[in-house]
Amino acid sequence: MTSSASAGPATEPALTVPPFAVIPGAQVQRALEGRQSQIVELVESTYRLHSAGDSVNPPSYFLRFPDRPASRIIALPASIGGSIRVDGLKWVSSFPENVSAGIPRASAVLILNDHDTGYPFACLECSIISATRTAAMAASAADWLSRGRPRPGRVGFFGVGLIARYIHTFLASTGWSFGEIGVHDLSADSAAGFRGYLERSGATGRITWYEHPEQLIRSSDLVIFATVAGEPHISDLSWFGHNPLVLHVSLRDLTPEILLASTNIVDDVEHCLKASTSPHLAEQLTGSRDFLAGTLDDVMAGRVRIPGDRPTVFSPFGLGVLDLAVGKYVYDEVTRSGDLHVIGDFFHELRRYG
Ligand SMILES: NC(=O)c1ccc[n+]([C@@H]2O[C@H](COP(=O)([O-])OP(=O)(O)OC[C@H]3O[C@@H](n4cnc5c(N)ncnc54)[C@H](O)[C@@H]3O)[C@@H](O)[C@H]2O)c1
Repeated sequence: MTSSASAGPATEPALTVPPFAVIPGAQVQRALEGRQSQIVELVESTYRLHSAGDSVNPPSYFLRFPDRPASRIIALPASIGGSIRVDGLKWVSSFPENVSAGIPRASAVLILNDHDTGYPFACLECSIISATRTAAMAASAADWLSRGRPRPGRVGFFGVGLIARYIHTFLASTGWSFGEIGVHDLSADSAAGFRGYLERSGATGRITWYEHPEQLIRSSDLVIFATVAGEPHISDLSWFGHNPLVLHVSLRDLTPEILLASTNIVDDVEHCLKASTSPHLAEQLTGSRDFLAGTLDDVMAGRVRIPGDRPTVFSPFGLGVLDLAVGKYVYDEVTRSGDLHVIGDFFHELRRYG
């Protein structure tokens, strides 16, 4: 990393204060455009590093407000080793009422900290990074959890905001095509917006709007939940009688009874069994974690096999290490392009005694 000031005596290995850069959303988007397959590989290798213990990923911290109970801001500190070797923090807001004002629900920044000095060296727009890593983990899970049986040809999107759009883009860019695309959302505007996106994207396959959740679930082999439901609203196990693969990205849609009748895969056990997610409720109901079959890494490594005789539910909490890995990828790409926007003299008080 290039230095902007030296902080150690010349005889010792030099530790330097890195320059501080700001990477706006347009640069983030350019760095990630068309790289979906690479990002899925990056997310998978990050899961492997995390599983091997080469990461630190403490629990997320939820900041909630008594006067705005639907909103929250979450801090996800993390550290990752391997060749990425970076520390940092994602600070992500969810204000669901933004949507009715025409602006996205989620906004975020990612701070990257230098491994050797701890100095923050970049602040990146992170809503795109967050949606990208979420969609990449969904595409990876769809792939690994459907291996060994016919690939789902009928996809159902349950809740169609920004995350659903990113997941569809990632699936389409990593080799998936669907004969039927089902859509269900409480909001007619969201459904119309998603349909418009699908048509512009050139997606093939019949697009069907389902008024009732039951119709969507019964008509889909791959069901993707991306709502903002705060508590479970889907409780009828018979809707899942055809044993679909369910990507439960929004984490709180399914009652524990549905999970208990399914093969449950998570990204990280400790993380998923928190914050009133459906797996957390299932643990509280049964007093055990026996309903969990394992993690996505267990599946990738062949330690867990997915039986075909019941639904499979993937509940990913979303790990800060994924944001770090994708954020560092963006930082490296922008640096390589020569367009890194450095804020000169950001760190100013660099001599202990003036
Ligand atoms: N697991 C992860 O790592 C991860 C990462 C990012 C986002 N998420 C989650 O993904 C979800 C979607 O995020 P987004 O940015 O797309 O939100 P968004 O607000 O843009 O879209 C959510 C959509 O869900 C619809 N909806 C809400 N409740 C519904 C219900 N009960 N039935 C049907 N539709 C319903 C809304 O009308 C809206 O169109 C959020 O819950 C978010 O927390 C998870």
